[in-house]
Amino acid sequence: MSRIAPMKTVFSGIQPSGSVHLGNILGALINWKRMQKDYSCYYCIVDLHSLTTFPDKELLQQDKIDTIKSLVAVGIDPNKSIVYFQSDLPHHAELSWILSNFCQIGELQRMTQYKDKSESFGTHAGLFTYPVLMAADILIHKADEVPVGDDQTQHLELTRDIATRFNQKYQEIFPIPSRNSTKTGARVMSLRHPEAKMSKSSDDIAGTIYITDDDEEIIKKLKTSVTDSGSKISYDKENKPGISNLLEILASITSRSVEQTLNEVSGMQYGDFKMHVSDELISFLSPIREVYLGLTDKKILQISKEGSEKAKITADETLVEVKNCLGI
Ligand code: TYM
Repeated sequence: MSRIAPMKTVFSGIQPSGSVHLGNILGALINWKRMQKDYSCYYCIVDLHSLTTFPDKELLQQDKIDTIKSLVAVGIDPNKSIVYFQSDLPHHAELSWILSNFCQIGELQRMTQYKDKSESFGTHAGLFTYPVLMAADILIHKADEVPVGDDQTQHLELTRDIATRFNQKYQEIFPIPSRNSTKTGARVMSLRHPEAKMSKSSDDIAGTIYITDDDEEIIKKLKTSVTDSGSKISYDKENKPGISNLLEILASITSRSVEQTLNEVSGMQYGDFKMHVSDELISFLSPIREVYLGLTDKKILQISKEGSEKAKITADETLVEVKNCLGI
């Protein structure tokens, strides 16, 4: 008689920046939604990580809630997936301390996000050990797969190394987690500065599409997006970074390949192409925005409370196992 294999586990995290942007959605959240069907999923609002950038206390409270609203609006179903705030489970921080012994200073110094972020926020230890806390997030639930955008690849590699070292030194308790990424959209670029990734940093509002942007804002942002030289639409990231980014966005939101998308739009003028992308973006985002705006804070706090109660069960089990291995 054949046995049904137990479901594999997925973990991923997102910083509590309030309303998420198109990069988050296409690079990570559509995968989070898709994976709910076949995996046991944990999706965490990583408020401890956000402390590395000194967020405003009052804004952080609301941003945490609004980030869960964004997840639910995109299609994360709290009846299927466990959604919770990182700081509700002290297990993350405790495991992080333990795992820091399995990580070299040189490895942390090589992290590109540390180098980038320390330019704005200084070289404090929180920013430096940020990837160890990420490893703890992933390993506390023994995740097999981690759906993230391109920018998290280096952090995930480090998590794999930390898990391997722990397993070798003590006991094989951690699965070695794999990165799961979307075919297109794993690195959505800014509409204004297509050499940089789309991000929530406030100096690039015009280059970033937010889940809360209304139709007019979307049209305006597309109209003012970078126009590459020449007039032909082609997929050439080096010479036409702006158009190539729009092609990837269009392919991603219409679930087509870049090649198929290019065939459909190749005869268009730049202006018409931008309008076409904004029409498709409006169709894609407006139902999401509608759900987002209809969610109450009370409902979200209930979701996070239930989520943290469930997440605590596996986190407790892992921490006991880890401590037994270590003899503490
Ligand atoms: P964060 O909050 O910056 O982003 C959340 C997710 O969105 C993806 N993403 C993008 N994907 C494509 N194009 C973009 N322009 C873009 N911008 C962001 C990110 O890759 C990410 O998947 N360190 C993480 C949060 C974290 C985490 C974890 C993730 C903490 N612990 C454990 C996975 C596992 C971060 O700051 O993501």
